[in-house]
Amino acid sequence: MKKLLLASVLAASLCAAGLFANGGGEKLDIGLAMPETHVERWQKDGASLKADAEAKGYVAEVTYGDADQSKQNQQIEDFITKGAKLLIIGSVNEGVGSVVADAAKEDIEVIAYDRLITGSGDYDYYITFDNFKVGQFQGQGIVDALGLAKATDTKYITLFAGSPTDNNANFFFDGAMSVLTPFIEKGTLKVVGPYPKTSADKANFTKIATENWRADVAKARMENLLNNDAKDVVLDAVLAPNDTLARAIIEACSTDGKYDTTAKLPVVTGQDGEIASVKYIRDGKQAMTVFKDTRSLASAAIELADAILKGKEPSIKGARLDTSSYNTGKKVVKSYLLEPVMVTKDNYVEVFLASGYYKAEDLK
Ligand code: GAL
Repeated sequence: MKKLLLASVLAASLCAAGLFANGGGEKLDIGLAMPETHVERWQKDGASLKADAEAKGYVAEVTYGDADQSKQNQQIEDFITKGAKLLIIGSVNEGVGSVVADAAKEDIEVIAYDRLITGSGDYDYYITFDNFKVGQFQGQGIVDALGLAKATDTKYITLFAGSPTDNNANFFFDGAMSVLTPFIEKGTLKVVGPYPKTSADKANFTKIATENWRADVAKARMENLLNNDAKDVVLDAVLAPNDTLARAIIEACSTDGKYDTTAKLPVVTGQDGEIASVKYIRDGKQAMTVFKDTRSLASAAIELADAILKGKEPSIKGARLDTSSYNTGKKVVKSYLLEPVMVTKDNYVEVFLASGYYKAEDLK
């Protein structure tokens, strides 16, 4: 009886010291740190990662950083205190590097989840979708919707990019521009507003980037463009880097007389397959999105984590191993890239309903 009492007192005090996961009496195996929830997909990522980890018998805990890196760093330190053996991190920005270094000192493996952790040499794995291809789909969406291959008159486009602290934003933009540049050089497409040819043109790229992927920032910038650089032209397209920003841009356009009906809206791109944007695509307000099945990314990440924890050579179903493209600035990390899917009005039902990602009633 005494031993039982002692064990329960010990467990209670360790719990009180936050040394166990989920407030329960189990040591943590895998810490899951997601960046935010204001972009819908991260809630799905977190839920899928936790469920998949538990299905493999791991004790896992998920946190959301509210796009605040210092908050996420504290959450990750808590995971380390709880004895995590491996961390899966969707970072907010490069400031996560200090806690990745702390993890490395404790021999805790880190997988960068969907967002490369730049500036760090303290981890070995990255798992994401083929981000350059996501951008190519966005560029192709504009080419197809405007019929640029056969266009004889000049079409006008303005450019937006993702968060300047998110390395993915560079790949998305460069992928899109790899498709659009030939039309710009031919004069078929003319850029209105700041025009970085690639993300390497930092002076101009920061002018089109959107801090922390915030919809309010994109909306304000679109309103500014409509009243200034784009005041005297009718825009035919806006390169929007994800669905949250696409809808904010469309909202700004809708209040401008030049674009105040669905038929008059510019072609607007996106990614993430957010339900509100799928409805916009159905209704002809948004031209396309890119489906990045968070269920697939999460299960691939847990496959990778499981292999690492068991000391096995990872071989991840549905992911291509890339050992050269993703350089953190300190080292090239082993990157597993999943295939994204381009979605337009022609295939949104097949892509989202057939895969079970959404149900028919979700689209009501
Ligand atoms: C990126 C991610 C995109 C989108 C964006 C906003 O890193 O690859 O899918 O979610 O963040 O959170």
